[in-house]
Amino acid sequence: MLKAIGEAGILIQKHFNGPFAVSHKDGVNNLVTEVDQASERLITKIIKDAHPGQGIIGEEYGEHDVQALYKWIIDPIDGTVNYAHGIPLCCISIGLMEGDSMIMGAVYNPMMNELFFAEKGRGASLNGMPIRVSEKKDFQKAFLVTGFPYHYPEGKNPFSIFERLVTSGIPVRRLGSAALDLCWVACGRFDGFWEHNLNPWDIAAGYLIVEEAGGKVTDFKNNPYTIWDKETLATNGLMHEELRQAIIA
Ligand code: IPD
Ligand code: CA
Ligand code: CA
Repeated sequence: MLKAIGEAGILIQKHFNGPFAVSHKDGVNNLVTEVDQASERLITKIIKDAHPGQGIIGEEYGEHDVQALYKWIIDPIDGTVNYAHGIPLCCISIGLMEGDSMIMGAVYNPMMNELFFAEKGRGASLNGMPIRVSEKKDFQKAFLVTGFPYHYPEGKNPFSIFERLVTSGIPVRRLGSAALDLCWVACGRFDGFWEHNLNPWDIAAGYLIVEEAGGKVTDFKNNPYTIWDKETLATNGLMHEELRQAIIA
């Protein structure tokens, strides 16, 4: 995992600011660059060379061997719209599942040289140093982050939650990389994060990193989280219920 994410980091940093070809996926603003595709091919090759027969679920090239016990969940660039516009808030995310359980995750932002890593039951780290979620309890003092998916669920308005929080005086940011949003909750920069309609590759690694840093991740009904969920709520645990109430109000 660390070899794959390190080599992909060198690749995406080398091509940062282009030139590279950009095309559109299922919507005019859902971009994919040739660097996203090259990054996923590189990561997949490194994993397949080391572990032939293990499964892969990748954003750009889909699924292979997913009946295997071990599956690697890859987002070759999370924050592609940022990357395509020269904004260094982007990363590579790789999670490893054993059966239905996420057992290892890494998220690397090569532009900031920040590597977040977690192994189930063994804690989370940033560049090798242990990290913990924030200890803030007072929701009125929360510092939050969210994201707006390319396709919003029918009948829901992303701005109603955003507006409710911001007009009550709570600062909310939108960085453009769900994997970094989760890791920045894990290391205590933010107290909470929510988003609708994320995909497994956006959150596989980041959600384990939050849990291993002492945080809590659920859906908006407070159910235990799985990477297939379409509602993601991650907090320091201490203000989970208050943020959940603000989301479902
Ligand atoms: C996107 C980012 C963004 C989030 C979108 C994701 P991509 O992933 O994580 O922050 O709001 O929902 O699709 O397309 O850059 O890999
Ligand atoms: Ca993504
Ligand atoms: Ca991506």
